[in-house]
Amino acid sequence: MKRKWWHTKAAYQIYPKSFADSNGDGIGDLQGIIGKLDYLKELGIDLIWISPIYQSPFVDQGYDISDYYALDPAFGTMEDMEELLGEAKKRDMGIIMDLVVNHCSDKHEWFQKALKDPFGKYGKYFYFMEGKDGMPPCNWRSYFGGSVWEKLPGYDNLFYLHMFAKEQPDLNWENPELREEIYRMIRWWLEKGVAGFRLDAIINIKKDLRFMDFPADREDGMCAGTMMLKHAKGVHTFLQEMKEKAFAPYGAFTIGELFDFRQDEMERYIGEEGCFESIFDFAPHLIGGSGKGWYDRREVGADDYRNAVFGSKAVSQEIGLMANIIENHDEPRGVSHFLPQGHVSETSKKMLGGLMLMAVGLPFLYQGQEIGMTNQTFTDIHQVDDISTKDEYQVALDHGLSREEALWAVASMSRDNARTPMQWSSEPHAGFTTGTPWMRENLNYREINVAEQETRADSVLAFYREMIRLRKSEEYGEAIVYGRQIPWKAEEKELMAFYRKGEEKTLLVLANYREEERKLRIEGKIRKVIADNTVPTDQWGSYTLQEDTITMKGYQFLVLEVGPMVAGV
Ligand code: GLC
Ligand code: CA
Repeated sequence: MKRKWWHTKAAYQIYPKSFADSNGDGIGDLQGIIGKLDYLKELGIDLIWISPIYQSPFVDQGYDISDYYALDPAFGTMEDMEELLGEAKKRDMGIIMDLVVNHCSDKHEWFQKALKDPFGKYGKYFYFMEGKDGMPPCNWRSYFGGSVWEKLPGYDNLFYLHMFAKEQPDLNWENPELREEIYRMIRWWLEKGVAGFRLDAIINIKKDLRFMDFPADREDGMCAGTMMLKHAKGVHTFLQEMKEKAFAPYGAFTIGELFDFRQDEMERYIGEEGCFESIFDFAPHLIGGSGKGWYDRREVGADDYRNAVFGSKAVSQEIGLMANIIENHDEPRGVSHFLPQGHVSETSKKMLGGLMLMAVGLPFLYQGQEIGMTNQTFTDIHQVDDISTKDEYQVALDHGLSREEALWAVASMSRDNARTPMQWSSEPHAGFTTGTPWMRENLNYREINVAEQETRADSVLAFYREMIRLRKSEEYGEAIVYGRQIPWKAEEKELMAFYRKGEEKTLLVLANYREEERKLRIEGKIRKVIADNTVPTDQWGSYTLQEDTITMKGYQFLVLEVGPMVAGV
């Protein structure tokens, strides 16, 4: 693997609406982010991805952009943005924008013009198609429910395509004029000094242009929109063109949000000539999913988690670095999702974070993860903001679940779980705002918050800081960033263990992914403890394990420096 500047970094996602509010209007903003740059620097963060801050009607919380060149006033002005870029640069940090170009907002001027003149220039920016006698052209279901086709107002048999909400019309990438518009916009932002982009829902930009029916997979007679992706050929051509014309000249960092891609195409995505620098590793998040809907999901166990991570690293680690996450703005909080209910403690939270930080890949934290923020509590569907949770609730009701059951079924998956205000302190509203937050804060902010954790060397926050420091250390950095990840005892239940074999150092990572103790026999003689989630960080590195057989406590996590590996491993 060719070594790149970003490999040694640590990244962090900000959901701007819920991060820090500087002016008391209840909405997080750019000045709020600027005020927290030192905090992020101290955590060890180098790259910050900010979810969309462009002008938007917020039907899908900013993922419906009505002007790619303007910021939404709720977040601040272009001067604020320039200030943020300057302040980040001063601290040697890079800002990554969200690039949402599979679709725009129905309020975008392109779409508005297209509606006025569907057969003119702007009609060709979208997918406008005749239906079948007033019925949609084909039976694809949108990601947020219902048909992907919506009638153009004033027409009986003319439809536009939207893979997501009807307020998010898909852009027609087959049209070279549209593509050029997009590349121009990307260059404009890069000229401003952003370090790169996270590419939203990017695999969707290539459609199966036959627009034909697939077998229905639910009672509604439709099929998942992702069926289309299996048959769409040639997304790489668009992606390579975008790379050449927009990203490469600026050396931009790019990270793709990619579901539903073929594992054997990894090389084309993150290999040396790949379309992106990196992509997110969603393998753990796909566990337990069901085509029927959230209500039909299965819970995730320790072995599922380990197998998913090992599986995707086996495919990717020779090719490039994927980005490791436990959560993001679309997923439940990792500690609530990947740890059994009742086992969520500071110790188990650190274990999960430790595994993510020690697995091969770029660590990509999500705001609040570093203090162990958890899922929100929902007692009523009216407390939900997220468009996709509302749809999944309806799907559950349609399937015959009671209201209570349906709420229960969607609450643990709701995208709102990760969108509650960042918990800075035990001040009112978690110190996020002096006004009324746009979204209800999680009431556990009185126990879980940054200010409190700053005071303890055994806090989740201290653990994350120290783990990131290890990744960047002279001593262990090479092994952590580039060392081969080799599974150890992968057949043993509720144990996640692996080596990271660097050029000079070999590390053994051990996680006892259960409540009961476990005895393990460690081979080799050197075993310096460089990380241990059961002792404060200021004691790490100061002792070695004396016995061959160690007893690991429930959810204990250890990183040991060991001697050269024994044969056969
Ligand atoms: C991506 C985003 C998600 C959004 C969707 C449509 O999956 O992460 O938040 O709803 O794309 O833009
Ligand atoms: Ca604000």
